Amino acid sequence: MLCQSNETNRRYILANDDILLFYLEGIEMKKSLSLLIVLLIMSSPLLAQEITDHRQMVEMPPAMKQMFLKNMRGHMESLDLIIASLAAKDLSVAADIAEGKMGVGHGKKRQCDDSSHQHKTDHSEHKGKGFGQFMPTDMKVMGMSLHNAANEFATVARRGDIGEAYNALRQISASCVACHQSFRVK
Ligand code: HEC
Repeated sequence: MLCQSNETNRRYILANDDILLFYLEGIEMKKSLSLLIVLLIMSSPLLAQEITDHRQMVEMPPAMKQMFLKNMRGHMESLDLIIASLAAKDLSVAADIAEGKMGVGHGKKRQCDDSSHQHKTDHSEHKGKGFGQFMPTDMKVMGMSLHNAANEFATVARRGDIGEAYNALRQISASCVACHQSFRVK
């Protein structure tokens, strides 16, 4: 009798364990289900972005792509330094950075500059050696508008009006945005 009741109790406990296990499994399933839902929700804007990504793909050999992206990170750093100089009201420092790092002139040859065939100078030998050779003409034009905006910024900043300088800085950042909306690299 006692033994039987023990057996019944054991079964009861076992059954309870099963229920507990079932219950726990239920929680796990609910967890994975909610995780899946969260992931889906999170990835859907990404998917949408992929689908609506109309940027033109520009192919470059890996080494050139590295060089190009390094150049980009340099632009980001220059932009940061220009903003810092403006915040410190060091307009001439801001002008020097823009001109020196992003500008054209003083014999500086830019990868975006397609004009070397017009004036055959010693720079022409550099043409085709950098990532510029892989950039479509439209992209080079956008690159040149960045370099020109940088020169223009330097001129404006040296005049000493901080408001005007910020306006001119906007032309630089707008050039970054325009190109980023149009191209990507592979
Ligand atoms: C002529 C076109 C062009 C201009 C102008 C341009 N970029 Fe880019 N930039 C690109 C492209 C293309 C990429 C690669 C984007 C991709 O593949 O998704 C890129 C990537 C970058 C990256 C990512 C680098 C990395 O390591 O992945 C940074 C940072 C960046 N640009 C900053 C800037 C800043 C700041 C400016 C303006 C001062 C600027 N770029 C102007 C075309 C441009």
